[in-house]
Amino acid sequence: MKSQLEQIKINAVAEINAAETSLEEIRIKYLGKKGELTAILRGMGSLSHEERPIIGAIANEVRNSIEEALEIRGAELKKLALAKSLVDEKLDVTYNAVNPVAGHIHPITRALERMTEIFIDMGFSVAEGPEVETVTNNFDALNAPADHPSRDFQDTFYITESTLLRTQTSPVQIRAMRGMTPPIRIISPGRVYRSDVADASHSPMFHQLEGLVVDKGITMGDLKGILSQFAKTMFGPETKTRFRPHKFPVTEPSAEVDVSCFVCGGKGCRLCKGEGWMEILGSGMVHPEVLRAGGIDPDIYTGFAFGMGVERVAMVMSGIDDLRLLFENDARFLKQF
Ligand code: DAH
Repeated sequence: MKSQLEQIKINAVAEINAAETSLEEIRIKYLGKKGELTAILRGMGSLSHEERPIIGAIANEVRNSIEEALEIRGAELKKLALAKSLVDEKLDVTYNAVNPVAGHIHPITRALERMTEIFIDMGFSVAEGPEVETVTNNFDALNAPADHPSRDFQDTFYITESTLLRTQTSPVQIRAMRGMTPPIRIISPGRVYRSDVADASHSPMFHQLEGLVVDKGITMGDLKGILSQFAKTMFGPETKTRFRPHKFPVTEPSAEVDVSCFVCGGKGCRLCKGEGWMEILGSGMVHPEVLRAGGIDPDIYTGFAFGMGVERVAMVMSGIDDLRLLFENDARFLKQF
């Protein structure tokens, strides 16, 4: 048994010292539950009283030697692996770097940010509303009951019978009025949806910027003043504004607003399609029924509102004549602006 133990020690240490990778298999082979040394120790029951402590001591010595060899070789292998990885994974920090492609602000985002900034400078604050809106806020409270023809124009994506993807940012007017007492001076930029087929001037999703002012004694003069000033700041100090009578359920009276073409100054060019003017928004004096739906007494307060097409403004700013180009997200195209 003694010579068997000696042999195990010699074999194990030789194997350990020759190992190139993991030592775990060798450890299991000798010291594991079913290992060679363990097998010998199990057989010690058959030894005499005198022999047992002697063989036991040798077995312990063999175990210690194997463990020590494992430890020493383990440390060596670790060092070797580190040296190898330092060579293999060498990083050349002087190598020419590939420049990361920096992002680019989208023309719609840029227009939205600029528009928002101008109104904030005029004392407006920003209000938000959800894109999934109630049918009531989107239509009924805005003076467009179930049989109103404007509902057909704004046919959209219904979530349930009573909720939909909002067709306009105007429902934020209702939310703002219900949540505030006048004076109210808010804008609300955001996405709106209509079941339109995409073409050069239509998209099933687009952006609007809503505006609402409610206070005592607000008149059409305030509306004209604010929007004319906005147009001058946005498109240049020479910009003229034209108010054309129109019909919206939310307002009475209503006006569509055109700005003089900032490319030709009103003479007519390719950008304004020879008109000299470009339409950018709908507006008017808030209808008394809409004030009432917002919990505001129309005998005390009046207000004006407007809804601006953000894509329109972005296209005018950037001289883009097809709306689809803004949504195709071809970086080569968008990088120009
Ligand atoms: N919500 C209208 C639309 O999408 C635009 C509009 C017109 C908004 C007049 C207004 C307004 O606030 O006063 O067609």
